[in-house]
Amino acid sequence: MSSSTSRPVHYTGLIDRYRDRLPVSDTTPTVSLNEGDTPLIQLINLPQQMGIDVDIYVKYEGLNPTASFKDRGMTMAVSKAAEQGAKAIVCASTGNTSAAAAAYAARAGMTAFVLIPEGKIPMGKLAQAIAHGAVVLQIKGNFDDGMRLVKEVAGEAPVAIVNSINPYRLQGQKTAAFEIVEALGRAPDYHCIPVGNAGNISGYWIGFSEACGHNTASCTLCNGQCPYLDKPLTDKRPVMVGYQADGAAPFLRDCPVTAPETLATAIRIGNPQSWDLAHAAVNESGGWFDEVSDDELLATQALLARGEGVFCEPASAVSLCGALRDVKSGKIPAGSLITCTLTGHGLKDPDIAVRGQEAVQTVNAELSAVKAAILAHI
Ligand code: F0G
Repeated sequence: MSSSTSRPVHYTGLIDRYRDRLPVSDTTPTVSLNEGDTPLIQLINLPQQMGIDVDIYVKYEGLNPTASFKDRGMTMAVSKAAEQGAKAIVCASTGNTSAAAAAYAARAGMTAFVLIPEGKIPMGKLAQAIAHGAVVLQIKGNFDDGMRLVKEVAGEAPVAIVNSINPYRLQGQKTAAFEIVEALGRAPDYHCIPVGNAGNISGYWIGFSEACGHNTASCTLCNGQCPYLDKPLTDKRPVMVGYQADGAAPFLRDCPVTAPETLATAIRIGNPQSWDLAHAAVNESGGWFDEVSDDELLATQALLARGEGVFCEPASAVSLCGALRDVKSGKIPAGSLITCTLTGHGLKDPDIAVRGQEAVQTVNAELSAVKAAILAHI
């Protein structure tokens, strides 16, 4: 790499990459697993098969170190917790936050306490929390109960909250928007994203806003410091579209949902903590919220995995699912440039992927049997 480029030869994570756009100082310890810098993949087969005239890219956040977008927020939250002398962190989680908290706590030499809803965490995510040595507290309640308990316990025990109500989380997550604008050389026309606790849509809106020199009300930490305010990367922001699972869609009901239910367990959330920020992102951008059914989101997960070779978890497929539907209906016009966040890797929840599939055949260990099986598919 030539010395004129600003990127280090060895990518060392998003805090080093975007140090001048994040609320860190030279004395902030960097707790990183080289997160960020994820691929923005253009879909080539699906638009052609569906006969739709749009440019769609997916931001494949499943390729972060713990296989979800949470690593972006967690590097910031744990670095700032370390700066403030914390020895322990705590979060409520539907699985991915707990995996990221566990890994970054291990990296920082801290203890992670994670509250998860009993029986509602896919095996991949649970395995991560256990593998990284987190103290896993399975509660007899859902994510919203866990979130309430985390806020209460942080007032009574020496633990730093690393859920997205911690503003450093959104600061880390905004960097995905920077990467998208840098990769495209412009902002997309539409950015489509799954919404659960509503932190990520809020983080992207901060990022897209800063990239074009706008200050948002939510951007208090970087207010006046962000170099993009003087030298914007782009001159516009995308329309933000937030999609939810229809059994867990408080933004569509316009009130909290008391018993959220969806197979997309990552977004099985009824009382989103970043309610106002998410509304601001959608309203300021001229966007909307919409909902998709479990059948629709699972069909999109399979379509993407088989049609493009990109495997995301069920909650992640919600963004593409909604985007494709809105393109077909014309709500998103032909000719648009669309980006969709794929929030987590499909391997997080292998049970869902193999559910109801008859893709595995057992054959005798003989040439004739293997040949016959191959020829039956050609
Ligand atoms: N997609 C995945 C894979 C997630 O894990 C989450 C949230 C979301 C989308 C929604 O993002 O909450 O910022 O609106 N997972 C959290 C967790 C709640 O505990 O892992 P959001």
